[in-house]
Amino acid sequence: MRVVISLGGSVLAPDLDSSRVAGYAAVLESLADAGCEIGVVVGGGGVARDYITAARALDANEVELDQLGIDVTRLNARLLGTALGEDANAVRTDEYDAAGAALRRGDIALMGGMTPGQTTDAVAAILAESVDADLLVYATSADGVYDADPATDPDATKFASLSPAELVDIVVPMSRDAGASAPVDILAAKLIDRSAMRSVVLDGTDPKTVEAAVRRGEHSGTDIVPETSDDPVEWIHAE
Ligand code: UTP
Repeated sequence: MRVVISLGGSVLAPDLDSSRVAGYAAVLESLADAGCEIGVVVGGGGVARDYITAARALDANEVELDQLGIDVTRLNARLLGTALGEDANAVRTDEYDAAGAALRRGDIALMGGMTPGQTTDAVAAILAESVDADLLVYATSADGVYDADPATDPDATKFASLSPAELVDIVVPMSRDAGASAPVDILAAKLIDRSAMRSVVLDGTDPKTVEAAVRRGEHSGTDIVPETSDDPVEWIHAE
């Protein structure tokens, strides 16, 4: 099974706790040992936001702000790489082709941000699309996709399952609404739709939730299931 995991910076490194980073590394190693081909795209979290806020106050333009964010995501990817043991053969790269090649030969490919104007959600979707991943997992600090922003709307309801087209319909208006946080960025939603990629959005605060989602398809987040296929994912059953 080939999987790309988008690991939010706020999930991996909210406070630079090395034992948390080690916990994610252990889960990735165990999935790789079970025969899973893995690519991980790491986000920037609060540290990226702090840099962006400081630079915005210094009148940096949007591209400069994005570049700062990209640097932080790459720093977080590097941190995760240091936690992965030698056997995991972690390859940290800023090229999709190199990440795809690493993943195909059984190494764990690690990426951060790539291009201004998007987030690591899109990087994960592009990597997943380019390697024909069986599953794309968004391990975030939100616990799924809602019909409204749960931070501001007490009546917001979580979807257990959605089609990729429905995800796009949800994300487009949220992306127009400044301040509202879409569960995945708009480019990621469009790529998931155009390539009919089986995806999951889940609360990744506990690395074990990511493991259960990849191994068995078990989670309490939101499945994004292409209509063209009932169950394209070959779950890993080895425990
Ligand atoms: P994240 O992917 O962590 O952004 O990248 P986010 O989704 O806003 O963060 P979370 O998920 O809520 O924690 C951090 C920042 O880096 C820049 C953007 O400015 C983004 O907000 N970035 C990242 C890019 O410009 N391009 C990329 O490919 C990735």
